[in-house]
Amino acid sequence: MVTNWPAGQRVVFGGDYNPEQWPRATWEEDVALMREAGVNFVSIGMWAWSLLEPSEGDYNFEDYDHLINLLHDNGIAVDLGTPSASPPSWFYHKYPGARVVHRDGTVVTNGSRGAAAPTSPQYREAAAKIAGKLAERYADHPGVVMWHIHNEYGAPVSHDYSDNARRAWPLWLQERYGTLDELNRAWGTAFWGQTYFDWDHVGLPAISASVTNPAQRLDFARFSDAQLRECYLAEYRAIREFSDKPITTNFMANECPATDVFAWAKEIDIISNDHYLTAEDERNFVGLSLAADLTRGAAGGAPWMLMEHSTSGVNWQPRNVAKLPGELARNSLAHVARGSDSVLYFQWRASRFGAEKFHSAMLPHGGKRTKVWQEVVELGNRLTKFDDVQGSRVHSEVAILWDTESHWAQDLEWRPTIDHDHKERTRAFYERTWRDGITTDFVHPSADLSSYKLVLVPALYLLSDADAENLRQYVAGGGTLVVSYFSAIVDENDTVHANGYLGALADVLGLQVEEFHPLRANNTVQVSGLAGTLSADVWVDDLMINSAQVQANYVDGPLPGAPALTRNSFGEGQAWYVGTRFGIEELAAVLAGAYRDAGVVVVEKPEDLELVVRRGDREDFLFAINHTTQTASVALEQLGAMFGGTPPAGTLEVPAGEVTVLRVDRNSPRGWSTL
Ligand code: GAL
Repeated sequence: MVTNWPAGQRVVFGGDYNPEQWPRATWEEDVALMREAGVNFVSIGMWAWSLLEPSEGDYNFEDYDHLINLLHDNGIAVDLGTPSASPPSWFYHKYPGARVVHRDGTVVTNGSRGAAAPTSPQYREAAAKIAGKLAERYADHPGVVMWHIHNEYGAPVSHDYSDNARRAWPLWLQERYGTLDELNRAWGTAFWGQTYFDWDHVGLPAISASVTNPAQRLDFARFSDAQLRECYLAEYRAIREFSDKPITTNFMANECPATDVFAWAKEIDIISNDHYLTAEDERNFVGLSLAADLTRGAAGGAPWMLMEHSTSGVNWQPRNVAKLPGELARNSLAHVARGSDSVLYFQWRASRFGAEKFHSAMLPHGGKRTKVWQEVVELGNRLTKFDDVQGSRVHSEVAILWDTESHWAQDLEWRPTIDHDHKERTRAFYERTWRDGITTDFVHPSADLSSYKLVLVPALYLLSDADAENLRQYVAGGGTLVVSYFSAIVDENDTVHANGYLGALADVLGLQVEEFHPLRANNTVQVSGLAGTLSADVWVDDLMINSAQVQANYVDGPLPGAPALTRNSFGEGQAWYVGTRFGIEELAAVLAGAYRDAGVVVVEKPEDLELVVRRGDREDFLFAINHTTQTASVALEQLGAMFGGTPPAGTLEVPAGEVTVLRVDRNSPRGWSTL
């Protein structure tokens, strides 16, 4: 991963720019308005293949020459996208077999985007070729500061069941397993008589009469992810032949389940992410924080780029709720608070035609009189003061484990209850820490955990022995671990651990899970032993206690009197087990003991005053984001714990809906000022 920020030391501001949709006269107006708004960085090219290569092998770079020069002359850095997310119509006409086929056999048509199959050799070759041509032409252009391959790999289509996929699949499996015996063992094909005797007989897990072999489907998720990554790497290599500038591809880190972000991150120079609020979720700013923290996790804590978000409503959700005054800045700065060194939107100018004409933009259809434009200009100006923030890093004492493979496995059919959702569990644990003013990192279960005081494990269904050993070492060395139900159930082949549920974590937790007791729809259970009696739902584990100490019991439900929450001392550390589904409110009491064990401090503050610290070399930056409609205050001495410095006496007051950024000189208690 490169550490050199591509566009000077500044938090970059701008967004996707799609000038193909406009005449050249508008480009002149665009750059003038960009300057007015403080835009210093745009991404171009993602949808320009038809313009750049109107027929096979016949290139037109004249428009882009003009455009890139124009942007450069106006001080606007270019993130040059490769157009592989949308091949031209001639490509589909010439290579009809390169189109994606859905699981039910439907062949997608072009006339949209994302229709090319990642397994198609013709597609891979054409995509790498146009990427290489762009790199050859613009590698040395001073205005081009980085490369942006493709757009959101895995969206809109990730799994392809075409003939090309059918040919590539057995080859990938041979590489993974070597022999058919090994494949038969890993997939447990003895079940339902599925044994394979010839590689050619191993089909794609398309729709079958009943449930398809879950290990086969899990491998197909891995295969599909690997195919996308191969496409990315082919373009990466084509660009590297000509340029050593940083390369990115934009994730939808937690919204595109098809890509394993931690695996991808190893191949990307600067991690970037797109995030769109879930309009229906009234607390969608928490989902935003989660996405940002996950992206920072993929970046290994390094500065990352918010490549896209919206200035107001989007166009593709059931109800596209527009942002209220102040929300734009709160959202954008929350990403910065959590490590993004960019504020970039989709898109610069609202499209007059096409599928996204109702999507908000920096420059809306209503032009400069609009509230959105004014808020954009205001934020652009504000960000000019953020140069020293660039490169500072978020520091966390708490981690949440995230493993895409576990999510893939958990999302398959025939699980104990349809009411369990790993996303919901992750959000619940995350939101609890968010409300408690604790910043969390997302890390893979194989990561070095030694710097964390507390590690939370929400529904980590799939856990390999090697990763379980990592958790064991963490607790043995003094860490505090909190594990929720439906964790460590299976290994990497979706096979139940040989010693039963919890596998290699059983001794760490001091218990085993005998049986799951999912509840009927809308049923609840009461749990006593914590702060009064707490309600829980969806899931009840029947536990066999070994060395664990019971902290709370069920009052009613299928197992009255049985343990619901336990704590076990293991080595130098503590391991907690939560056997039922507590809501976010109830989790406060559930996690209190673990916080105590770990020495994690809960900041006394209004729940929806978001506080995050970025640490620079000498200075820290505290972002205080008030998501409420009233002034929110926090005693400065409370913040000492977040900084490790000595704060002055007094109170930080953040006006309703606003964002205050405090700049703190760690060596001087008087060095507190607002940015
Ligand atoms: C993103 C995509 C953009 C645009 C945007 C609309 O996922 O990368 O091209 O479609 O959604 O919200």
